[in-house]
Amino acid sequence: MNKAVIPVAGLGTRLLPATKSQPKEMLPVGRKPIVQYIVEELIRIGIEEILFITGPGKTSIENHFGVNYELVQTLREKGKEELLAELEFDRVPAQYYYTHQRQLLGLGHAVLCSRSFADDEPFVVALGDSIIGLNAQSDIVRRMQRCFVEKGCVAVIAFEQVSNEKVHQYGIAQPKSNGEFFELSDIVEKPTLQEAPSNLAVAARYVFSPKIFAALDRTEPGKGGEIQLTDAIRLLIKEGGKVWGVQLGVNERRHDIGNFGSYFRAFTEFALADEKYGESLREYIATLNKG
Ligand code: G1P
Repeated sequence: MNKAVIPVAGLGTRLLPATKSQPKEMLPVGRKPIVQYIVEELIRIGIEEILFITGPGKTSIENHFGVNYELVQTLREKGKEELLAELEFDRVPAQYYYTHQRQLLGLGHAVLCSRSFADDEPFVVALGDSIIGLNAQSDIVRRMQRCFVEKGCVAVIAFEQVSNEKVHQYGIAQPKSNGEFFELSDIVEKPTLQEAPSNLAVAARYVFSPKIFAALDRTEPGKGGEIQLTDAIRLLIKEGGKVWGVQLGVNERRHDIGNFGSYFRAFTEFALADEKYGESLREYIATLNKG
């Protein structure tokens, strides 16, 4: 299982004006754009082929993962080895693919665009706006892949416990049992607190069997009039498919860069952990607090 899909077609309207002409996935968190953390997380666990589901205005993502020979040449000529090291990520032995989601019909529709890429093999979906763990130091997807194989699943999903106030923002699991690994008896997209079967929220990472495509074909528009990935997963469960969840560990907090509040928090946390500038930033923030 060495293929992953990263949907990045969303308009990022909750982050306007920052995202007017720049994809939200390219906003920096600390030193790197968000999507670079996601790619590095995937490559670290052995993913070799990555398909980005993009849309209008997202070409800077493609540029970021391509090699900028002019820049490399200039840095080399000037002997700037330290800066060259910052570009090492664009030489990783991964192959990148890009396709446009030509109509913004929802996350389920975006995943449908990866059908021929998946080529009838299991694959990973990692949402382009969520970093898992400080500096993306997480092997959650590897644990999910293991669960997928061991339990004979059609889907495995990462989950995180969220507070009652956040339940309506996420897909929510109905687990059959407690614990780090659990089977799902249902999943509901963005329920009200009253409807929510638990506080376990989908945390932006999925492993799918290619059966998800046939389920998506049969999925009617749901919440917000969009074709919801959650609804297709629900269909798989209803039809007897095994769907399991894996909970994020304590050091794997999900940084969902969906709005300015969460973006500011993620940026601050990553900047405070920066080897070179973290300490002085901490001191600076302390002086602000006194003011
Ligand atoms: C999507 C999914 C939702 C999931 C969330 C975060 O929602 O539809 O089930 O919980 O991603 O992983 P979105 O954030 O695109 O509205």
